[in-house]
Amino acid sequence: AAQPLRHVDSMATMPSGAGKIPYLNAVILGEALASEENDLVYPSDDFSRQAHVPSPQKYLELYERSIKDPGGFWSDVASQFYWKHKWAPDHVYSENLDVRKGPVQIEWFKGGITNICYNCLDRNVESGLGDTVALYWEGNDLANDASLTYSQLLHRVSQLANYLKDIGVRKGDAVIVYLPMLLELPITMLACARIGAVHSVVFAGFSAESLAQRIIDCKPKLVITCNAVKRGPKVIPLKDIVDAALVQSSQTGVSIDTCLVYENALAMKREKTNWQDGRDIWWQDVIPKYPTKCEVEWVDAEDPLFLLYTSGSTGKPKGVLHTTGGYMVYTATTFKYAFDYKPSDIYWCTADCGWITGHSYVTYGPLLNGATCIVFEGAPNYPDSGRCWDIVDKYKVTIFYTAPTLYVTRYSRKSLRILGSVGEPINPSAWRWFYNVVGDSRCPISDTWWQTETGGFMITPLPGAWPQKPGSATFPFFGVQPVIVDEKGVEIEGECSGYLCVKGSWPGAFRTLYGDHERYETTYFKPFAGYYFTGDGCSRQAKLANLHKSMFRDKDGYHWLTGRVDDVINVSGHRIGTAEVESALVSHPKCAEAAVVGVEHEVKGQAIYAFVTLVEGEPYSEELRNSLILAVRKQIGAFAAPDRIHWAPGLPKTRSGKIMRRILRKIASGQLGDLGDTSTLADPNVVQQLIALSNC
Ligand code: WT7
Repeated sequence: AAQPLRHVDSMATMPSGAGKIPYLNAVILGEALASEENDLVYPSDDFSRQAHVPSPQKYLELYERSIKDPGGFWSDVASQFYWKHKWAPDHVYSENLDVRKGPVQIEWFKGGITNICYNCLDRNVESGLGDTVALYWEGNDLANDASLTYSQLLHRVSQLANYLKDIGVRKGDAVIVYLPMLLELPITMLACARIGAVHSVVFAGFSAESLAQRIIDCKPKLVITCNAVKRGPKVIPLKDIVDAALVQSSQTGVSIDTCLVYENALAMKREKTNWQDGRDIWWQDVIPKYPTKCEVEWVDAEDPLFLLYTSGSTGKPKGVLHTTGGYMVYTATTFKYAFDYKPSDIYWCTADCGWITGHSYVTYGPLLNGATCIVFEGAPNYPDSGRCWDIVDKYKVTIFYTAPTLYVTRYSRKSLRILGSVGEPINPSAWRWFYNVVGDSRCPISDTWWQTETGGFMITPLPGAWPQKPGSATFPFFGVQPVIVDEKGVEIEGECSGYLCVKGSWPGAFRTLYGDHERYETTYFKPFAGYYFTGDGCSRQAKLANLHKSMFRDKDGYHWLTGRVDDVINVSGHRIGTAEVESALVSHPKCAEAAVVGVEHEVKGQAIYAFVTLVEGEPYSEELRNSLILAVRKQIGAFAAPDRIHWAPGLPKTRSGKIMRRILRKIASGQLGDLGDTSTLADPNVVQQLIALSNC
C-alpha cells in the first residue's frame, strides 16, 4: 500500500524552506537591492543579452512547443548527439503513467543506437576539443592537483574499458563502484558506459553493511574501489570497508571474485593495505598495460546506463534505474540551459559522484557539453572554511553549483557568473545571502529542484530569462508539466499548496526500480493515479510580474518547494529514509522501538531526531545513547547518525498502532503549544511523558 502522507496543512507556508542561516549578516539582510522590485530580482541586461534564453517570451515559446509536441521538440534536441542509428521518427517516445491502464512504462528514442561515453569523449575529441581540459582534480590537501584533457580522459577510460572486457564484463553486467572523488571515479563510470556495463556507484561514506546490501541486490561482476582516502585530516581505509562488505555478501551467496583497487598513495601506501590474493588486483599494476583505444559497445537508447540506490519510506534502498538515450539528452540539455553554459565557462559542482548530482552534473551533463569541470576530493571546510572560495579563485570558476550550506569569507570570486543551488529548499534569506555575498549581487541563482528519480533538473530558473524570486525554483524545464494536487489527487489551479506531481514523462525519467517494478508503481504512480508523485510538497504563486501576466495561463506561476511529505529526510543534501535509521536503531539489543523524524537545522537543512524506547528495565545513560548512535553509523554511515536521541517510555500511537509522527515532529521542534488533535491516541499520556523527557 502507499505510504501515509503528511498532511498538506502541516507543510510550511509559502515561501518556506530550510532553517535560518545563523552566519547571515543582518546588514546584508536589511539591504534593499537596486534591481529588486516586488521581490523580483532581475538578471542584468548584459547577462540576458548573452544568454541562451534571453527573455520570458523565448522561454515560453520553447516551453510551449516542448509540451504541445514533445516528440518533435526532443527529436530536434537529440539530433545534436551522435547516434549510430536513429530512432523511428514516428516513435520518439511512448509512455503509460496511469496504473489503471496497465503497467507503467516509459521509453524515449527506443530503437535509437548510441553510446553516452562516445558522446562525452570521442565526439568532443573529434570536434577539436582534444586538448581542452575535461576534468581538473583538486585534492584534499592543498598541494595536490591534476588534470585530464578530453584526449587523455578518452585514453584512460579506454584502458579501463579494455580491462573490464578482458575479465569478462559484458553489456548489461552490473559493476559496483565504491570510490571517493578521484579522477578514477568518473573514469570508471565512463568505462562502464563505454562497454554497456551498468555502473552502480555507492557513496564512499556508506558503511560496510549498506555496501553489502547493494552488492547483494545487484550482484555485480566486480567491485572497484581504492585502498584509502583522506577526508580533511583523517585517513579512511575504504578497502577494509569493502572487505567487510564482501564477507557479508558472500554469506548470503553473492560472492565477488574480482576487486580492482586503486592505490591512492596520497592517503595510504599499498604495503599497508589488507589484501586477499587471487581476488584483489591493484589498478596501477594492470590498467596502464591496456591499449588506449577501445571500440564502443553500441547500445539501444533504452538499455540501462546505471543503477543508483536511494532512500525511500521503507528500510530497503531502492535501485533507481536510468537508461541511456533519454538520460543523455536530458542531462546535457538541462545543464546547458539552467547554467547558461558557454564554452568559455569553468564549472564546479561540489557534489560527490556517489549521489545523482555527481552523476548528472559532475560527469555526464558537463562532459556531453564539452565543458571543463572540477572534481574536488576534499571537504569544503578543510584546511579552513575559505577552501571553496580558494578553489573558485584558483580555477577561475564561472559556474558554481552547490548545496545551500556553505560559508563565505575573504576571496574575490570575480570569476563567478552563475550560482546553482540544490538538495533542499533555500529560504529567501539564505537566497539573498548566496546572491549578495557569494555572487556580489551580480550572479543569477539557479535553484534547481529535482531528484535521483528525475535524472535531471525539473523546476529551475533559466538565468537569463526570468526575474527571480528569492527562494523559488521558478518554472518547469522544457517538457516538464508539474501539477499540484490535493489529498484526493485533484489538480489545484491558481495560488495553492499541495502535493507535487508530474504529468506525462520526460526523457530523463527513471524507468523502474531494479528488480521491483511493482514497488516502482506503488511508490510513485499509485498515490495519485495518472501522475508521477514526487514525494515533495509545493506551493505555487499565481501572481506574476505584471509584464508577464498576459502570457501565462492562470494556473502557472512561481513554484516554491516546501520539502518532503513522506518519511524521507534530507541532511546536507544526503537523502535518508527515516525507516532505515529506525531499523538500525532497533537492531541495537537494548532498543525496543524507535521513531525518527527530521527537524529543521541551521546548517544541514534537516537534522535527524530519534525517539527511542528501551527494552524493559534498561536505564537511560549517555553511554547507551552513544552506542545507539554508533549502531546507526555502523549500519548506514556517519552521515546518517542521529543528532539527538530523545528517550521515550512510549510512542504516540493511534488505536490501530500507527505512530503519529506529526506529534513527534512538533515535540522535536519544540512546538509544544501546538500539538494538534491528540484525542485519537491510544494513550494520550504518552505525549506528556515525552515532553517531560525533552531535556534529558
Ligand atoms: C529531494 C531529492 C537531486 C538533487 C539532490 C538530491 C529535495 C532537491 C531541491 C531544491 C528544494 C530540493 C527534495 C527532493 N530537493 N532539490 N532545489 N529545493 N528541495 O537528490 O537525494 O534524490 O533528493 O531533495 O525534497 O525530493 P535526492
